[in-house]
Amino acid sequence: MNSMVQLDSATAIAAAAAVAGNPVKIVAQGVNVYYGEKHALRDVDLDIQERAVTALIGPSGCGKSTFLRCLNRMNDTIPACRVTGRIAMDDQDIYDPQLDVVQLRARVGMVFQKPNPFPKSIFENVAYGPRIHGLARNKAELEEIVAISLKRAGLFDEVKDRLGDSGTSLSGGQQQRLCIARAIAVSPEVILMDEPCSALDPIATAKIEELIDELRENFTIVIVTHSMQQAARVSQRTAFFHLGVLVEIGITSDIFTTPKDRRTQDYITGRFG
Ligand SMILES: Nc1ncnc2c1ncn2[C@@H]1O[C@H](COP(=O)(O)OP(=O)(O)OP(=O)(O)O)[C@@H](O)[C@H]1O
Ligand SMILES: [Mg+2]
Repeated sequence: MNSMVQLDSATAIAAAAAVAGNPVKIVAQGVNVYYGEKHALRDVDLDIQERAVTALIGPSGCGKSTFLRCLNRMNDTIPACRVTGRIAMDDQDIYDPQLDVVQLRARVGMVFQKPNPFPKSIFENVAYGPRIHGLARNKAELEEIVAISLKRAGLFDEVKDRLGDSGTSLSGGQQQRLCIARAIAVSPEVILMDEPCSALDPIATAKIEELIDELRENFTIVIVTHSMQQAARVSQRTAFFHLGVLVEIGITSDIFTTPKDRRTQDYITGRFG
């Protein structure tokens, strides 16, 4: 098959092995999303595996961001938006009215398409979350959390001598790593990323991709991407959406080499989207 994405078999086998034994972190069942009259997602059943990267791909408007936002209830902030069905994380219904949404968003962090550091210092960008969630007992602990988060985001060496500078003074790629450090700082279990590299140049993109690969040892990652090459490089499982429907999900190499559905095949061979 003439897929636009080439995978070598060693990579494919390693990817399959990497997720074979992983437990399921999030289960979505029969998820429907409406924006007013607009039916944006239809009966989506999807499992997200722990400590793996799941890529969401598909043509513009197919519902990737909508699905991602369901996972930390960011859709709650859109007045016309209605979500039905069940989404459970560690067997707990995240739409349970008893659930504390602020806590949920600490457990399920998010990184957006455009780097969006707060107009505050580099230090404060990372310290903000731990402070509001009371994760540090004193200044020294807070400084340690900030340093560890910046290290895990691969940014510490570049900023350690300028922690007081504004976050917005960094380059785009550095800003995105700062946003990743900010997400990591509250020790989330899941990190959602909506096209995190689309505003970045190839070098900054490569750094973020490398980082994602390291982060999956400790975090469950769900990434939306328009780049099939990126999905193939960073993810172990890929879900293909089309017109609000989850067409198929599987091991990334299978999706790109032997998709089961004609629509997936058409998309990965560049026939539409
Ligand atoms: N806030 C909103 N209000 C109304 N309709 C919306 C809203 N957000 C998304 N939609 C609609 O829901 C559908 C899915 O949108 P969504 O943003 O999830 O797509 P996407 O797959 O992320 O697309 P893209 O690749 O362009 O980011 C689209 O038809 C879109 O117009
Ligand atoms: Mg989107």
